[in-house]
Amino acid sequence: MSCWAIIAAAGSGSRMGGDRVKTLQELGGRPVICYSVERLKRACDGVIIAVREQDIRAFQHALAGYDLPEDAFVVGGSDRRSSVHRALSRLPEDCDLVLVHDAARPLVSRTLIDRVIDHARRLGSAVPAEPITDTVKRVDQQGRSIETLQRTVLRTVQTPQGFHRTLLESAYEEVEGPASDDASLVEQLDLPVHLVDGEPENIKLTLPGDLERAEEILAAHRMPRVGLGYDAHRLEKGRPLILGGVEIPFDRGLMGHSDADVAVHALIDALLGAACLGDIGQHFSDTDMAYAGASSLDLLYRTVDLLSQHGFVPSNADISIAAQQPRLAPHIPAMRLRLAEAMKVSEGRVSIKATTTEGMGFEGRGEGISARAVALIHIRR
Ligand code: CTP
Ligand code: MG
Repeated sequence: MSCWAIIAAAGSGSRMGGDRVKTLQELGGRPVICYSVERLKRACDGVIIAVREQDIRAFQHALAGYDLPEDAFVVGGSDRRSSVHRALSRLPEDCDLVLVHDAARPLVSRTLIDRVIDHARRLGSAVPAEPITDTVKRVDQQGRSIETLQRTVLRTVQTPQGFHRTLLESAYEEVEGPASDDASLVEQLDLPVHLVDGEPENIKLTLPGDLERAEEILAAHRMPRVGLGYDAHRLEKGRPLILGGVEIPFDRGLMGHSDADVAVHALIDALLGAACLGDIGQHFSDTDMAYAGASSLDLLYRTVDLLSQHGFVPSNADISIAAQQPRLAPHIPAMRLRLAEAMKVSEGRVSIKATTTEGMGFEGRGEGISARAVALIHIRR
């Protein structure tokens, strides 16, 4: 059983205007369509994109780096409803859950997509919705206000909207008439449409000026985030000394549940801290036998994966190790290489420094080694 996303991109973007259809215009240096394709492709088993016939080549070109099969594109219809309907007929047999998304909402987050998938799978439908804070009026044909609606029973809705495939197909086959979203068809089957929290930033690019707003939201997302980590372990005889993912010849090694690599532990905590994802003990518990003797470098790879699932990538890190002995300088290049590989950044973005504490404190007395790390991460573009 699989979950597929239909991306509606077959509109003409008449209200937005511009030299190209709005979903091919540039946002943060790349075409608008790339954002939803990238995020939905990651979260789902496949995507089908409805586009206008005359735009197919331009969309293929814009999405050349996304490794899409040729049949990912389908020619849309004259309105959104018929575009989605055509895409529905192209779903693979094993697909049982469908997300329908407007390409005009490029700022949809992975968190929202996952929320929709999770609720739609359990409940049959999931539509992201937001409460209304403005007072809402009904107007007459001359545009004069004639009624104030009760906003507590009103919601604005967004995409992606998720449904069991059979439910969505019945809605498209049995309900007639125009529809600006998919939920409106399911509602008419007299079946419940479940709402989940939407996101204020998941705006639909509709009018000139919306792209500028989207650029501002993106810029705010790209603000780097910083995290701090600290760790210390005891030195004991009969253990290998692993620091920064490298084994260092010494007569003692660090004690711990895993390989007790303090430098990597501090770095993991800094990365998790920057992403606000808790700490190392929460993800790799030292009471969990699965991590007994674990390679900390391995945990670093997993941490970077976890960050990636939350849309973050490491930018750089600086680690300071306090050890009276042994001399670490000769090993630092190898450590930087290992850590940079795990963080998927160049070596020039991982700094490691070592210091003695001039004989003071537990590090100075050779009882243990400590490490401090700061890391900077940013949202994946
Ligand atoms: N859409 C579609 N097929 C259509 C019309 C619209 O797939 N025949 C898609 C649009 O590409 C958009 C989404 O449905 O991603 C929501 O529609 P809207 O915001 O109205 O976009 P457009 O129809 O392109 O814009 P406009 O109405 O201003 O022309
Ligand atoms: Mg439209």
